[in-house]
Amino acid sequence: MKVERTVPPVERGTTRVLVPTMGALHDGHRSLMRAARVQAGESGEVVVSVFVNPTQFAAGEDFDAYPRTLDADELVCQAEGVDLLYAPTVSDIYGKDNRGDRISVAPGPLGRELEGRSRPTHFTGVLTVVSILFHRVRPDVAIFGEKDYQQLQLIRRMNDDLGFGIRIVGIETVRDVDGLALSSRNSYLSSQARHRAASIPAAMDAAQSAAREGADAAKAAAEGVLRDGGMEIDYVEVRSADLGESPEQGAARLLIACTVEGTRLIDNCLINVGEGR
Ligand code: PAJ
Repeated sequence: MKVERTVPPVERGTTRVLVPTMGALHDGHRSLMRAARVQAGESGEVVVSVFVNPTQFAAGEDFDAYPRTLDADELVCQAEGVDLLYAPTVSDIYGKDNRGDRISVAPGPLGRELEGRSRPTHFTGVLTVVSILFHRVRPDVAIFGEKDYQQLQLIRRMNDDLGFGIRIVGIETVRDVDGLALSSRNSYLSSQARHRAASIPAAMDAAQSAAREGADAAKAAAEGVLRDGGMEIDYVEVRSADLGESPEQGAARLLIACTVEGTRLIDNCLINVGEGR
């Protein structure tokens, strides 16, 4: 496997699959790499990018503290049969001149809701870097996790609206034994906070049970469990699968953001609302 700061053009007829990441790779990322290999086939090419993107962190967020473990990441990629680990520097991506007037991608109204309400510049940073990665790597397929559900929806919209023509594949969230979604940020948690964070999957279970009474009941059930678990709630919302208004009945998405000991965690799951009425 090669580790590079640039990506060579793909050979004609070869399927190239990209897995964009910020590194500190865990089993969630591994699951994306395995899906990438399935998409690429034996003769295709799997590219994993590792880039901690400064523009998606606001001032005061954890850009400096974000774990950077490139040597370990290289071993993970090697073990997963990745063909190329693309690890650009900040100036490889954003240029050396550090211009303040650079063009960026506007995420539209959905970019200001949910995560965007607490992190108003976040999705501009995400979509801009993902579009740069798409242009640099020119993949046929790109793989993203449902763990960052709003991010996945916005990337699908960007791909459609700006005509990238890439196949976007979403992968189910990989969880720890107690149900907590794997995340590079879980490494910030003390053992007590890690224990409390298990109230997130418990809240999702409670919401699923209450959902037969409707979306409001599901939301209230999740909030109750999170509060009892000592989590500080940022939002709990029930939406449609494409993050519009929740349906009265049928498949919906529950989305949670909360903080424990200063670490902000997000998660989401499918729930079926109003089915028991
Ligand atoms: P990062 O947080 O490193 O995540 C990279 C990819 O892994 C994302 O698509 C994310 O949804 C997925 N992922 C994270 N945890 C997962 C889990 N437990 N199960 C399955 N997939 C999981 O998301 C980013 O980086 C960045 O915003 C990026 C898209 C790379 C742009 O900078």
